[in-house]
Amino acid sequence: MTEQSPWPDLEGIAYGGDYNPEQWPREVWREDVALMRESGVNLVSVGIFSWALVETAEGVFDWSWLDELLDLLHANGVAVDLGTPTASPPAWFFATYPEARVISRDGTVMGFGARGMASHSSPAYRAAIVRYADALAARYAEHPAVVLWHVHNEYGVPVGEDYSPQSVAAFREWLADRYGDLDGLNRAWGTAFWGQHYTDWSHVGAPAAAPSTVNPAQRLDFQRFTDHQLRACFILERDAIRAHASQPVTTNFMANQSLTTDLWAWGREVDIVSDDHYLWAADEQAEIGLAIAADLSRSVGGGKPWILMEHSTSAVNWQPRNTAKRPGEMARNSLAHLARGADAILFFQWRASRSGAEKFHSAMLPHGGTSSRGWKEVVDLGAKLGRLGELRGSRVRSEVAVLWDFESFWAQDLEWRPSDDLSHAERIRAYYERLWLDGVTVDFALPGHDLSGYKLVVAPAQYLLSAADAENLTRYVEGGGTLLVSYFSGVVDETDSVHEGGYLAPLRTALGVRVEEFLPLREHQTGQVAFGEQRITGDVWQEHLVLEGAEVVGRYLEGPATDEESDAAAITRHRHGAGTGWYVSTRLDVAALRPVIDAVYADAGLAPSGRAEGLEVVTRHGADADYVVAINHRDEPAAIDVTGVDLLTGASADGAYTVPAGAVAVLRTGTDRA
Ligand code: GAL
Repeated sequence: MTEQSPWPDLEGIAYGGDYNPEQWPREVWREDVALMRESGVNLVSVGIFSWALVETAEGVFDWSWLDELLDLLHANGVAVDLGTPTASPPAWFFATYPEARVISRDGTVMGFGARGMASHSSPAYRAAIVRYADALAARYAEHPAVVLWHVHNEYGVPVGEDYSPQSVAAFREWLADRYGDLDGLNRAWGTAFWGQHYTDWSHVGAPAAAPSTVNPAQRLDFQRFTDHQLRACFILERDAIRAHASQPVTTNFMANQSLTTDLWAWGREVDIVSDDHYLWAADEQAEIGLAIAADLSRSVGGGKPWILMEHSTSAVNWQPRNTAKRPGEMARNSLAHLARGADAILFFQWRASRSGAEKFHSAMLPHGGTSSRGWKEVVDLGAKLGRLGELRGSRVRSEVAVLWDFESFWAQDLEWRPSDDLSHAERIRAYYERLWLDGVTVDFALPGHDLSGYKLVVAPAQYLLSAADAENLTRYVEGGGTLLVSYFSGVVDETDSVHEGGYLAPLRTALGVRVEEFLPLREHQTGQVAFGEQRITGDVWQEHLVLEGAEVVGRYLEGPATDEESDAAAITRHRHGAGTGWYVSTRLDVAALRPVIDAVYADAGLAPSGRAEGLEVVTRHGADADYVVAINHRDEPAAIDVTGVDLLTGASADGAYTVPAGAVAVLRTGTDRA
């Protein structure tokens, strides 16, 4: 096995995108490379969907066009991120191995003509992907253009779960591995209920569509299994590449936009984290969703620099209404990713396709050509990134962690939960948004991580929490940390079984409170809470809390919790060891969270830098300098207090510095070693 490089062998910040030139004649290739040079592009992803044009029949490879393309790119100073096209097997593959097609939960056999249709558990598929990855790496490991390997494309979409016979067989093996024997499985799935007790492994199946809701523990395990199978496919390809090549290997994640894979586990398998991020047009503050994706990408990679593998120059083509980016928006998006640790800014795709499913998707070189505003902004962004090379390798630091656990997402989002209005994603967004508006930079973390370096840990929705992880959170508080937990947390263990002792029981020591009963509200029902002198309004949810040492800092004034013979406690605070545990038992929106989180900041010894509306400021820390990236999302100028040099304009800042409307400033300042 060859030793892997930590980062692609490239100067400065990488800039470019997916390049699919097999759609075009050779004269267009020559124009492409000239325009790449003009725009400062130094890295393109090639071959991600090229299987049918390279392996033209089983075991028959035609490398001619790829040889020519890699040579051309290299001659023009453009490096290559070389893809394995295993997200889209050729027509001949499915004709030869029809059993490798995916079967959906309702029993539909997925047809050819799209992409992502192959079963992750099919022996024929697995043999084919290893053969391709091996042949590709053997041929190009030494090619001077190749600086990075790009395995597959977006594992888990469009197809994750597979209900085919080979997947069911593999699921049984996975379960036997996890539980040892059928007794273990029966216990974990609680099969004594609803008469589901198993007496033979061959009776155990995937949680296919059934007349009523399917056993939630079975469904959760099937999600874990699916994630495991997809990762096993990645590892097969990665290791086939590593046998020949020393360049780093990656695969493109979708951070918060697809929740089918557990990116904490994936982060350990890739040499570099890559992420694809697309704005949700319906989200009026899409820059906050972008920041979540970027922070999550950095966090699952352990804080190391990461690659923004895809985003869009303007509109996408797959949302209900695909809004175009406004002037300056593409640069703000790109530099916001960079601010949060991305050292490579890439797009889908280089040149807009004339045919096929994605012809209405924007591109670096749009249908409108080089006279378009879009192209001019692409050239301008290339020039900007060219001035930011010294940021490479600098790191983001955070004093606050927000818990993000994919397994808890999967479990919470199953059917028959106490209220349809419970949403894991919504709570994470609300708490994150509060922190974003307050100018607090956060990492994401798992409840089992070492959290001792953080002043504040926020658990917006930790429905599934193992006893061991709860113990870790309790120790964090004991050691002086501040923990803020929102409702519907600490409810079940790894098998989706309610904790002994009831809801929140594993956190009762840290929080000084437990939950006797959930009190979901009706649609549109609200409940006022007295918080100090203030009145704040919650909705969706209340709980009957039983105090076990915590003080009540917020009390329900209306709603079902006031009917109980209790303190009507809504928000509690508990000193435990050297730290403090906060609990919030109702849904507060971003505005209502403000007074609560201000009090939490005070306990945590945090003094958020400011609340300049629409101004996003993140600092990257380098060996010799710090870099303050200020992104002005507003239509008017914004001022920041900073001393240094704006690397984008060359201007000096001495105290107050103005960032023009819609612009970005990147200021080199002295180091802050604090
Ligand atoms: C990504 C995908 C790309 C392209 C893009 C369009 O999810 O990886 O191949 O389809 O979406 O937005």
